[in-house]
Amino acid sequence: LAVLTRATNDPLAISTYLAVLTGLLTWRLIPAVADRFVAAGLSGKDVNKAHQPIIPESLGIIAATLYLICLFLFIPFPFRQWFPAEPAVLSLRTFPFQRLGEFLAALLCLQSMVFLGFADDVFDIRWRYKLVMPTVASIPLLMGYYLSDGITYVVLPIPLRPILGRILDIGILYYVYIAMLAIFCTNSINILAGINGVEAGQSLVIALSVAANDLLYVNGPDRPAAEVHLFSLYFILPFIAVTTALLWHNWYPARVFVGDTYCYFAGMTFAVVGIIGHFSKTLLLFFIPQIFNFIYSAPQLFRLVPCPRHRMPRLNPATGRLEPSDASLATATPTGLAVVRTLARFRLVRVATDDAGTPLRVSNLTLLNLLLVHCGPLPENHLAALVVALQVFGSVAAFTVRYQLVTFLY
Ligand code: UD1
Ligand code: MG
Repeated sequence: LAVLTRATNDPLAISTYLAVLTGLLTWRLIPAVADRFVAAGLSGKDVNKAHQPIIPESLGIIAATLYLICLFLFIPFPFRQWFPAEPAVLSLRTFPFQRLGEFLAALLCLQSMVFLGFADDVFDIRWRYKLVMPTVASIPLLMGYYLSDGITYVVLPIPLRPILGRILDIGILYYVYIAMLAIFCTNSINILAGINGVEAGQSLVIALSVAANDLLYVNGPDRPAAEVHLFSLYFILPFIAVTTALLWHNWYPARVFVGDTYCYFAGMTFAVVGIIGHFSKTLLLFFIPQIFNFIYSAPQLFRLVPCPRHRMPRLNPATGRLEPSDASLATATPTGLAVVRTLARFRLVRVATDDAGTPLRVSNLTLLNLLLVHCGPLPENHLAALVVALQVFGSVAAFTVRYQLVTFLY
């Protein structure tokens, strides 16, 4: 009993135990319920396999639901010290209501995003709504942020200080930035997708990087920083656990697909921890591959260059390897063709031309296809491993920038 009491006084230990338990449960439950997803019409073709098997889709909902249950059960623990043994009155005067408010707001925000992501899997929501959804879902978080800290100033880098000063209060724009962060995190994971293991793989590396960054602070001398990073850990540890379980079943050859539910859930978890932990800039450094993929995709996302419904690489059945998929340029605008020519000059795309040299088709503008243009053709699992390796490399670069180079800027 003494061990139990002591253990319940350490929320981080509780969080870790609960996370491990939730991860194991997710790992067991996914294969047990996968067939029911197919029966319910939640399935997709694994297009890069010779026989294109039907795979249960949206199993991210299992990971996300168990994650939410885990966090619901955890709600009392960070506030344990405000529950006196006797008399049974809460020490209301010192109770951190703002912190609780922010915690609940973050949960509401995650829960809404999971709901909306699942709706997307079931109804295939249009792109313009996909952009709006995270904004709406992040409103509780913005409110929670306002209540708990509400800091809207940014510390400026040294070169800008002579003009604007050391600190700049950007007011309402800070909230616009937070909402955009939520849109970016969710959608950028969803568009770096299409081969087995890549959605959960990239998310796992980002989550581990976030946790490593948090651990640098939790025992540090800066108490406010330690506290916010502790809260970030409470959200990220169970995420790491459920993602590992999901990845186990989603890695090549996939037995389940994660679905948009998972991509939105993952992106929103990162936005949540970045905001409550006050490290949104560091978080964005962990998104280097996603930022690159987004900028590189922009000509197709904004329809300068035609964008097919699916842009994932294509299997060459003869070799069993993936090759870049491409888009027809028949309906491309002159601006689009100019963009394609410029990208081709820098060897950033592969273009098929007619005899007169007019571009006919261009490799789709995704990081996966770009890797294949330069390092391909590759087997699907090698390409997924390459993306995960790039993500690790990105995180190493992020830590270097954040803790070494940054001293020249701040
Ligand atoms: C996003 C991408 C799209 C990409 C798709 C793949 C943009 C603008 N959209 O669309 O180009 O093709 O993700 O997820 O970049 N699938 C596999 N193997 C996998 C994972 C998925 O074959 O390992 C296929 C399955 O048929 C699955 C479908 O992709 O059913 C899921 O696509 P969905 O998540 O609905 O596509 P979007 O997120 O809309
Ligand atoms: Mg998707």
